[in-house]
Amino acid sequence: MKILISIVTISFFFGQFVFADFNQAESLMKKSDCLACHSKTQKIVGPSFEEISKKYKNEKNASTQLTQSVIKGSQGKWGAIPMPPHPTLNEKDAQTMIEGILSLANTEENSKKKEKNEPEASTFDPTTVTQVDIEKGQFYFEGRLRFQNRGPSCIACHHVKNDAVIGGGILAKDLTSVFSRLGGRGVQAILGQPPFAVMEQAYLDHPLTPDEIYALVAFLNDADQKHLYQTPKDYGAGLVLSGVFGAIVLMVFFLFIGARRKRFSVNQDIFKRQIKSQ
Ligand code: HEC
Ligand code: HEC
Repeated sequence: MKILISIVTISFFFGQFVFADFNQAESLMKKSDCLACHSKTQKIVGPSFEEISKKYKNEKNASTQLTQSVIKGSQGKWGAIPMPPHPTLNEKDAQTMIEGILSLANTEENSKKKEKNEPEASTFDPTTVTQVDIEKGQFYFEGRLRFQNRGPSCIACHHVKNDAVIGGGILAKDLTSVFSRLGGRGVQAILGQPPFAVMEQAYLDHPLTPDEIYALVAFLNDADQKHLYQTPKDYGAGLVLSGVFGAIVLMVFFLFIGARRKRFSVNQDIFKRQIKSQ
C-alpha cells in the first residue's frame, strides 16, 4: 500500500514538473507558429491561452482533445476563423504545449487565493528586491548615505541586529523583526507618515522619498529574515569581562615591577662595596 501511495505521489509530482509548466510550453510554441495567432492574455486571431484554459478547466480529456485540435486543425468552436492544422508537430510537443496552456487556469486560481490570504503582496514584493536595494537601505539606516531631505538616520534612535551594522540607539524599538510584525505595507506606512510623536517630529520637515522608503523596507525585510543567523550585538557582559581581565593583567604587571623595585630600590652591590671600603 505504501509503495502504491508513493508511486502515485511521485508520478503526480513528476507529472506536474513535466507538463504543467506554461514557460516550458511557451518556449516550445516560440519555435512553432502559435504565438503569431495566440497570446497568453489577449485574443489575437485565436483565443487567448487563459480563455482556452478556463473553457476546458473541468473537462476530463481536455488534454488529448486539444492536442488533436492543434495537430488536425480546429474550426467553429471559437468563431468563424479556423485554426490551420499542424501535421508536422510531434504529438509529445503538442501535448506539452497544451498542458502548459491548461495549467494557466490553476495558477490563476491559486494567485486569486493567495491574494485573499495576503493582501500585502501587492505593495512590497520581496521577490523583486535586489541586493542593491537592501544595501542602499542599510546605508540609509546607518547614515552612511544621507537622506535627500536631510532627515536623521534611523540608527540615531533604532537598532537592528545585523552583522554589517554597528549597534544603534536604544531610544526606540529594536527594528530587527518589525517586518514580521507589521508587514511591508505597515512599515511603508510608518515611514511615509510616522505615527509616533518623536519620529514624526524628526521627519516633519525632512520627509523620506518613496525610493528611500522602498530601500529601507527592503533592508528591514532582509534583516528580519536573516536575524536568526546573526551574532547578537550584546556588548554588555563582554565589555565588563574584558575590563576586569585587563585590570587584573595590569595589577599583576605592576605588582611584579613593584616587587622588584622594593627589593632592589637600593643597589645592594654598591651599598655593600661602600660599607666594605669604609
Ligand atoms: C493562423 C492562426 C493560428 C495559429 C498559427 C495557431 N492557432 Fe490555435 N487557434 C486559432 C484559431 C482561429 C482558433 C479557434 C478555432 C475554433 O474556433 O475552433 C484556435 C484555437 C486553438 C485552441 C483551442 C482549440 C479548441 O479545440 O478549442 C488551442 C489549444 C490552440 N489554438 C493552440 C494552438 C497552438 C499550440 C498553436 C501552435 C502549434 C496554434 N494554436 C497555432 C488560430 C491559430
Ligand atoms: C528621533 C528618533 C527616531 C528616528 C531618527 C527614527 N525613529 Fe523610528 N521610532 C521612533 C520612536 C520613538 C518610535 C515609537 C515606537 C517605540 O519605539 O516604542 C519609532 C517607531 C518606529 C517603527 C515602528 C516600530 C514598531 O514596532 O511599532 C518603525 C518601523 C520605525 N520607527 C522605523 C524607523 C526608520 C526606518 C527610521 C529611519 C528612516 C526611523 N524609524 C527613524 C524614533 C525614531
